Amino acid sequence: MEKYLNMPIKTVITEFPKVGAILKDYEIGCVTCGVGTCLVKDIIEIHNVPKHIEAEMMKKIEAAINGGDISIEEKIDDVQLQAPRTIAYAKPIQRLVDEHTLIKRLLALIPVLCDRVNADLDSNREVVMKSVEFIKQFADKFHHAKEEDILFAYANGNTDIINVMYEDHKKGRYYVKSILLGLETGDASFITYSLKHYRELLTEHIKKEDEILYPWIEKGMSESQIEELERKFNETDFTFGSDFYDKWESFVNSLE
Ligand SMILES: [Fe+2]
Ligand SMILES: [Fe+2]
Repeated sequence: MEKYLNMPIKTVITEFPKVGAILKDYEIGCVTCGVGTCLVKDIIEIHNVPKHIEAEMMKKIEAAINGGDISIEEKIDDVQLQAPRTIAYAKPIQRLVDEHTLIKRLLALIPVLCDRVNADLDSNREVVMKSVEFIKQFADKFHHAKEEDILFAYANGNTDIINVMYEDHKKGRYYVKSILLGLETGDASFITYSLKHYRELLTEHIKKEDEILYPWIEKGMSESQIEELERKFNETDFTFGSDFYDKWESFVNSLE
């Protein structure tokens, strides 16, 4: 087992696919994660696995690697597994999580928006334009800029996971361009295709940040760094104006 603890998780999953299934049971999506270079021993820390679950999960992984299985009595209670994990974030990080909540409210409306675009593009052109504006101004400029220009600098040089986040942001911008191109050419199916892919991408991206990246970055920060982070966020938000957040929240309210 010792040698596997120091191997990248993707390598271990390739050799022992059962390990991927075990992690999935614990809501750890290493199989679909684009990073894959995290070491087995770091998975628990990165994913914030509660102490009382850690030992059971590692037993299962060890059994999968050694070709055995653990007894039924040793298996963790399903109720424990299904209990939602609540994460307490530091104040400035909580701000990013709250911004995610507003972005997720817009994402939740995309399927209905797509149905309407497919039925009648011309009458829904304006609402699509305004939604794209929300994505560009709020999700990208306001929120992603705080991550890229400020938060990610505190990730202590672990570039793999940060590169995945940058890639997601870039893909998001690509989908925005595609939506605008669809509007220009009047191609409803291209618009809805791009909107749906944007929704899928951002949903996964936000989950990764809320559950993995943010807690992990925060864990490595000192108290003074957290204070510094809050100060920098305040400075950035100030440049957008005091009514910026409320303006876009009102837009999502009206859309809902
Ligand atoms: Fe992000
Ligand atoms: Fe984010």
